[in-house]
Amino acid sequence: MRISGVWNRADFLPEHEERGRAALLAAYDAGYTLFDHADIYGNRMCEEIHGRLLKESPDLRRRTIIATKCGIRWSGDPTPDAPHRYDFSRDYIVRSCEGSLTRLGVDAIDVYQLHRPDELMDPDEVCEAFLELQAAGKVRFFGVSNFRPDQVEMLQSSLPFPLAVNQVEVHLGRLACLEDGTLSQCIAEGISPLAWSPLGGGWLGDGGAPRENDPAAEQKRALLAEMDAVAEKHGCSRTIIALAWLMRHPSEIIPIVGSSNQERIRDAAKAAEVELSREDWYRLLIAARGRPLP
Ligand SMILES: NC(=O)c1ccc[n+]([C@@H]2O[C@H](COP(=O)([O-])OP(=O)(O)OC[C@H]3O[C@@H](n4cnc5c(N)ncnc54)[C@H](OP(=O)(O)O)[C@@H]3O)[C@@H](O)[C@H]2O)c1
Repeated sequence: MRISGVWNRADFLPEHEERGRAALLAAYDAGYTLFDHADIYGNRMCEEIHGRLLKESPDLRRRTIIATKCGIRWSGDPTPDAPHRYDFSRDYIVRSCEGSLTRLGVDAIDVYQLHRPDELMDPDEVCEAFLELQAAGKVRFFGVSNFRPDQVEMLQSSLPFPLAVNQVEVHLGRLACLEDGTLSQCIAEGISPLAWSPLGGGWLGDGGAPRENDPAAEQKRALLAEMDAVAEKHGCSRTIIALAWLMRHPSEIIPIVGSSNQERIRDAAKAAEVELSREDWYRLLIAARGRPLP
């Protein structure tokens, strides 16, 4: 989401392209395989940057699971008075997918996700779009993002194949998915949870801090102190502890690392080698809740 550096095309410079490319190459070198995009990221420039890299180094495609998303429409599209909204109509899903394929320069998307639940979604119509894309060989697996368990169930009831992923916001600063049935549903249905903003957008990472005007700042600082203590015990960074905490969950959460800093990208990859004990996992959960368990 961040590899273009800027969202306004007029501000995009060759140095942004270079930084985005370098971030992608650092991730490939560190062994990352899943790359998460969306048609809207960087005003479509994120997919384009990755597409140019894949064109230049086609061998990388074999090492890439390309995930992307559709369904969010900006205000002003297609008419000036159109509001920011969600659109899971058949035509829009198919058209967005074709746009992503072109920008990425690939024949197929590996995991195609619906970005944010469209209140007007008709699951049968979504199914039609999915089947059309699947029959044309344009998408391998389908998933959703930010869906509640009941919304997953509704869509799944219209599909002849299982949804592969639900990409949700889950991290030590946001525990809702542990409590609202999202992760239990992932386990029960074999859906992979992808965690977006696994560092809460940065504040959970090393040197990060809550905003001064955050009403929960004091409790968040206590959580960071607990994370630092666990990190010291494991001889690793706090970032790694934040990611390892997610990966220890039995739903097999896949954190989507959001950094475009090469050093941080390399460091985060080490989370795969850290397994937290039950005690450390719960210590962090309790600090994240800000109150003891019942
Ligand atoms: N489905 C959805 O609705 C949705 C929503 C949001 C995001 N996403 C997906 O989730 C991915 C990750 O999201 P995210 O970028 O918010 O993830 P994140 O990993 O929580 O945050 C990354 C941000 O934190 C900064 N950061 C990392 N370590 C830091 C540290 N130690 N101190 C201070 N800042 C630090 C990074 O800056 P540097 O680049 O300088 O390291 C970057 O700006 C996105 O790329 C996108 O694919 C999906």
